[in-house]
Parts: sequence; structure tokens; C-alpha cells
Amino acid sequence: MFKYVVPTIEYKEKALEYIQEFYQYHSPINGVGGLHKYLEDYEGWLKKLEEDKNPTVSENHVPAQTFFLVREEDNRIVGMSNIRLALNERLKQYGGHIGYSIRPTERGKGYNKINLYLGLKVCKEHGIEEAFLDCDKENLASARTMIALGGNFVREYYHEPTKKIIQDYLIPVQESLNKYQDLYEPMISKEEKQTVK
Ligand SMILES: CC(C)(COP(=O)(O)OP(=O)(O)OC[C@H]1O[C@@H](n2cnc3c(N)ncnc32)[C@H](O)[C@@H]1OP(=O)(O)O)[C@@H](O)C(=O)NCCC(=O)NCCS
Repeated sequence: MFKYVVPTIEYKEKALEYIQEFYQYHSPINGVGGLHKYLEDYEGWLKKLEEDKNPTVSENHVPAQTFFLVREEDNRIVGMSNIRLALNERLKQYGGHIGYSIRPTERGKGYNKINLYLGLKVCKEHGIEEAFLDCDKENLASARTMIALGGNFVREYYHEPTKKIIQDYLIPVQESLNKYQDLYEPMISKEEKQTVK
């Protein structure tokens, strides 16, 4: 069983260990709400997450929430997500509503599909009808996660800053939640169902 947990001080050790694993495996880091820039200042990161909630939308800020995807049986952080609740022009072009990651030792088990399902529930809670996500064309696991949750391919293009081919996807939030609820609801802890509807 899995749940989204809002970061707190109690998760400090687990969160830092989560990030360390990405460095250990030389993995790209995504969807962590900047945690990797606060390794010496977890408390400062928690404050930043509070500031991230500010509803003002500008080219420097959008309201966002960051979650740990926690496996209930051992209380391990297996993934994270960063959900942008509104998009500025920059994120409408590149980045989109949801960033996510699964720790290297827990990949290939379907966990990111659970992560995205829970992310879509958060989108729904905040009135986002259509979630925009993108990924490097080479990142098959990410593209397949989106497709597995009902993502519709929109376009691909060359992105100069990253020098990568980027693919854009749109996910109709309510339609996908309806379509995949039987698959994913049984994997979500009851606690989660009470907090995120
Ligand atoms: C992308 C990422 C989150 C995927 O996590 P994951 O838990 O391994 O993904 P899942 O096990 O849920 O698999 C999702 C889909 O990708 C497929 N997949 C998983 N690993 C794959 C791989 N290495 N190559 C190709 N497909 C893969 C799965 O088969 C599944 O597709 P399916 O339902 O059609 O079978 C993870 O690799 C990661 O954290 N990468 C680094 C950060 C990152 O790239 N984030 C995304 C930025 S856009």
C-alpha cells in the first residue's frame, strides 16, 4: 500500500537518504521540489515548501506542492512528486504540471504509475482538468508512465537548452482517474483516501 506524505521534519533522514541514492547511482533527479539543493538545510527546505504554496503566479513562481510517495509496509520513501498547481508561460512551454521520480533501487516495479495516479488526484483536487507533462524522448519509463495513465501524445520538438528531443503529453484528469481507479485504488492506503479525494 502506498500514500502521499507531505514532507515533515520526521522524514529528514529518510529524505536525505532518498536523494543520496540518486547520486550513488548517477541518476537524474526530478520532482523533488529542490530537496537536492538543501541537503545541508532540510529545515530550510521545509520552509521553502511552505513558500511554494503561495498562490501568486509569475514567471518566477507558481504555486506547487511536493510529496513523498511512501510504501506503507516499511515506511520507505520510494518516490517523490512536485505538482505545479498553476502554470506560468515558462512551464506551459517546458516542465508542465507534474515532475516525478522513483529511487533507483525501486524502479521497474510499477511504482511511478501509482505516483502519477496520486498526482492526478492532487490535480483534480485543485481543479486541474487537463494535466500537461513532458519528458525527454529517450526517457521511455517516463513516457510509458504517462501513456499508462491515459496520456495523449501532443508533439515532440528539439529543446535547445537541454539539447534533447522533448515529448509533450496531456492527461484528461477525471477521465483517467475514472478509467484507472480499479487498478490503482487497491494499492493506495486508506489514510491516503481520506486526505486526497
Ligand atoms: C522515470 C521514472 C520515474 C520511472 O519510474 P519506475 O517506477 O521505474 O516506472 P514504472 O515501473 O512505474 O514503469 C512505468 C512504465 O515504464 C516502463 N518502464 C519502466 N522502466 C523502463 C525502462 N528502463 N525502459 C523502458 N520502459 C520502462 C514500464 O514497463 C511501465 O510501462 P508499461 O505500463 O507500459 O509496462 C524513473 O526512472 C526515474 O525516477 N527516473 C529519473 C527521474 C526522471 O527521469 N523523472 C522523469 C522526468 S520527465
